[in-house]
Amino acid sequence: MSASIAFFRGEYVSLDQANISIATHALNYGTGCFEGIRAYYNATRQQGYIFRMAEHYERLLASCRILRIEIPHSVTDLCQITVELMKRNAFREDVYIRPLAFKAEPVIKVTLEGIEDAFGVFALPFGEYLPLRGIRVMTSSWQRIDDNAIPARAKVTGSYINTALAVSDAHAAGFDDCIFLNPDGHVSEGSAANLFMVRQGVLVTPPVTDNLLEGITRQSILQLAEEHGISVAERHIDRSELYVADEVFLAGTGVQVVPIVEIDGRRVGGKGEGAITRRLKQAYLACARGDDPRHQDWLTAVK
Ligand SMILES: Cc1ncc(COP(=O)(O)O)c(C=O)c1O
Repeated sequence: MSASIAFFRGEYVSLDQANISIATHALNYGTGCFEGIRAYYNATRQQGYIFRMAEHYERLLASCRILRIEIPHSVTDLCQITVELMKRNAFREDVYIRPLAFKAEPVIKVTLEGIEDAFGVFALPFGEYLPLRGIRVMTSSWQRIDDNAIPARAKVTGSYINTALAVSDAHAAGFDDCIFLNPDGHVSEGSAANLFMVRQGVLVTPPVTDNLLEGITRQSILQLAEEHGISVAERHIDRSELYVADEVFLAGTGVQVVPIVEIDGRRVGGKGEGAITRRLKQAYLACARGDDPRHQDWLTAVK
């Protein structure tokens, strides 16, 4: 980890030197926003590809707008900074890239305006976040944060306490992960990934107004489903629908595409992952690794 190079406050430095004060506003109040971007290493081509980098930086700037964070970089600048970071680190493996924009001043004042902001990005080797073969989940007793409390469409550092509370309880109860319901009782998403289910051949996912992060993987899956001739619907999902669904899976940068094989002690569909989940998982991973010529526009090659 210490050998890794980060970009921090306008300079490339060793990750060890990319430090902040204990008095930093974001550390005290959770006033930062971040992204999680994957870069895949294609061993056959000896080539690394960053997946949908511009879309991630567009979302970062949208989160910044919600948090009134101003950073002196456009999406184009941020992409250039990240490609340079990847070159300097010379990775030959799959990597997770973590950009972070935050309220950086040492100030005791709970507000968003008039506080100096900072930006940094680092990258680390990264494998599976959850087992790709399938996971067992529970419905969390913690509710997904509401848009009028902490907007889930902004990827806010402090809001991940909601995730951490729910995931810790799920682990303590012997599950791999959990599903969040929103305050009106509908299914929102997984702990750090969007949720999809298949019922009667239709791929269903909750709308972006159901307190979820507007996932870039979610959008990619919806597009791939249409290309594969799979009908899609964005609508509310009831908790009990998950118990009778044919397939359920999570999709996100970290988890990639992970089948859910059991929910609240009930087996999902048939045995193991379903056919539509498998198709979409294979299609997604082929795109991400640079093996699908139709989606090269989703990738940035690191030369
Ligand atoms: C809460 C939450 N929902 C959904 C996602 C999936 O978003 P994306 O596909 O853009 O990574 C993430 C991913 O980090 C997340 O943290």
